[in-house]
Amino acid sequence: MEDRILDSGAGQDEVSLEGGLRPQNLAGYIGQKTIVDNIKIYMEAARKDNRQLDHLLLAGPPGLGKTTLSQIVANEMGVKIFITSGPAIEKKGDLAGLLTSLKEKDVLFIDEIHRLNASVEESLYSAMEDFFFDIMLGEGAHAKSMRLPIEPFTLIGATTKTGSLSSPLRDRFQIVFRMDYYSVDELQKIVERSSEILNIKTSTEGAHEIARRSRGTPRIANRILKRIRDFAQIKGNGTIDLEITRYALNQMEIDEDGLDQMDRTILMTIIDSFNGGPVGVEAISASVSEEKRTIEEVYEPYLIKSGFIARTPKGRIITKKTLEKFGIDKTFQGRLF
Ligand SMILES: Nc1ncnc2c1ncn2[C@@H]1O[C@H](COP(=O)(O)OP(=O)(O)O)[C@@H](O)[C@H]1O
Ligand SMILES: [Mg+2]
Repeated sequence: MEDRILDSGAGQDEVSLEGGLRPQNLAGYIGQKTIVDNIKIYMEAARKDNRQLDHLLLAGPPGLGKTTLSQIVANEMGVKIFITSGPAIEKKGDLAGLLTSLKEKDVLFIDEIHRLNASVEESLYSAMEDFFFDIMLGEGAHAKSMRLPIEPFTLIGATTKTGSLSSPLRDRFQIVFRMDYYSVDELQKIVERSSEILNIKTSTEGAHEIARRSRGTPRIANRILKRIRDFAQIKGNGTIDLEITRYALNQMEIDEDGLDQMDRTILMTIIDSFNGGPVGVEAISASVSEEKRTIEEVYEPYLIKSGFIARTPKGRIITKKTLEKFGIDKTFQGRLF
């Protein structure tokens, strides 16, 4: 099956493609101004004291630049970065191996850190706080606990769900940044930058249109850009102008609001099957046959951010904006929005 064009998670073959588009330093990292300004200060302070950067947690929906920023931080600090993810560290021993191979000031990047298993997570606490790691050697009566020292390092954790991070773990990060969706202007700059790198001719209007319909997400903007290049080559004159951009987005079923078929299905399901809500994510997930986690971490945040869904204590409800989008009467089901 074809990958969802708006899926903001990185696909297998995309990781290498993204490589070339990833800015390598802060100067090339567009947007997220507050975060960039602050991280500069923290890096400078660490450099001045000749110590490692404090542990850093990056939270936000997929595709907003968490991995990119982590690599930039390591580059700018002049240290190595080791990249792994919560689900990939299965045992305490795996973590011990990673931690003991770090040199002073190196960065350990753990993606999806909210998905670490409990025993691995607990053994991370002393590593973060006091730079040692307790490990059991042998089994049963002969088991012996050993304390392994670790070089002072920087842990960078990335999570799409801060809510599901345990508080002992969250509290051990001295710096916490919440990344927000990008503005259209910022995305337009990203599209223009990527066009240059990929050697694609893109008009200002074309770049703006892609930016406007990319759900505030750089990864999606870059992905749409590459798809439209194909359309421009086959159906147009090779240049990404407004006309070919609109045509291609239409073919990809990405609408004026940047929503795709799945987004619209979710909204229509809440309207048709649940009277507009309130409805829980489980019920939505079952109705549209999509994993609960994907709904919560990928689709819903943007639908909420852009005002198509609202969260209430009783569940999700659709908004007046959604009814207007679909041309449904505002007194839908007798309910007044
Ligand atoms: N601030 C930014 N400026 C320019 N490009 C960006 C920025 N943030 C992300 N990107 C682009 O989007 C892609 C996805 O970013 P990534 O760091 O992998 O997101 P995340 O780790 O949050 O899922 C990157 O390959 C990069 O090309
Ligand atoms: Mg990432």
